[in-house]
Amino acid sequence: MRTFAIAASVAALALGLAGPASADPIIIKFSHVVATDTPKGKASEKFKELAEKYTNGKVKVEVYPNSTLYKDKEELEALQLGSVQMLAPSNSKFGPLGIREFEVFDLPYILPDLKTLRKVTEGPLGAKLLKLLEPKGITGLAYWDNGFKQMSANKKLIAPADYQGVKFRIQSSRVLQAQFKALGSLPQVMAFSEVYQALQTGVVDGQENTWSNIYTQKMHEVQKYITETNHGYIGYVVIVNKKFWDDLPADIRDELSKAMKEATDFNNAQSQKENDDALAEIKKSGKSEIIKLTAEQDEAMRKAMEPVYKDAAGRVGQPLIDEFQKVAK
Ligand code: LMR
Repeated sequence: MRTFAIAASVAALALGLAGPASADPIIIKFSHVVATDTPKGKASEKFKELAEKYTNGKVKVEVYPNSTLYKDKEELEALQLGSVQMLAPSNSKFGPLGIREFEVFDLPYILPDLKTLRKVTEGPLGAKLLKLLEPKGITGLAYWDNGFKQMSANKKLIAPADYQGVKFRIQSSRVLQAQFKALGSLPQVMAFSEVYQALQTGVVDGQENTWSNIYTQKMHEVQKYITETNHGYIGYVVIVNKKFWDDLPADIRDELSKAMKEATDFNNAQSQKENDDALAEIKKSGKSEIIKLTAEQDEAMRKAMEPVYKDAAGRVGQPLIDEFQKVAK
């Protein structure tokens, strides 16, 4: 009997059915560039919690926030190489991969609100955009919101003329470059992790971002004014290394998809509140003056940025802009 038990466990070990080796969890390294206390930071933690729970610990998710592992451009390269498995870059950061279509989300004033955004991201257009990632060895899993961007600088930005000659940090998007050129500003691509210091030392004069990013990176401490423009949108595409994803056992992939779906719902339900809370904190800090535009001033900004659509047609394609605008009505 004893001999049989030993023989059976030896056979099981040989087949990889038992023993510590087969119990090793699958590791998902999830790298991102923002603070934990942001919409994306919280949603990635939620995904970790649910993924580990639904797979009974067969998957372990290691979240690396705040560019601790990689900066913007490096993280995409790392994903393609398989050094990390999951990321959630903003729509504005796919250009270095040779994919410009996600920059349609960067067009000024293209999304009036988050409800309209859902029509794009949860519909066929959202799915079509995700497919563009596949030839690059990337699978798109979900869209996560952040929210709408505000303009900040050490001078008051009210009329389009105020933007003349101001150096702005931008994400690596040609549409954002065109946006600031339309305002007569000098856009400069820079990794998110470098923005605070660049503002502090005067390498750039201003930047555009959501309230939650401004607050958690302490940008409001080095910018005297923030104008509430809500002129553009920041949201994320949650992506995974395609080979890693395809090679997962089907049952594990199903559980991870379920976890991702729930983390997405969680993110999209709390992103607005995160930004509202951050705005309240910035106001409370008294470090930066918040400027609100009148309807006329808002209209002048919209007009000044109109040429960006023409410029973007050559970059992301007019048919895509038309399709986006049709869905986002
Ligand atoms: C930025 O670079 O400003 C943002 O994309 C950062 C982020 O991930 O929200």
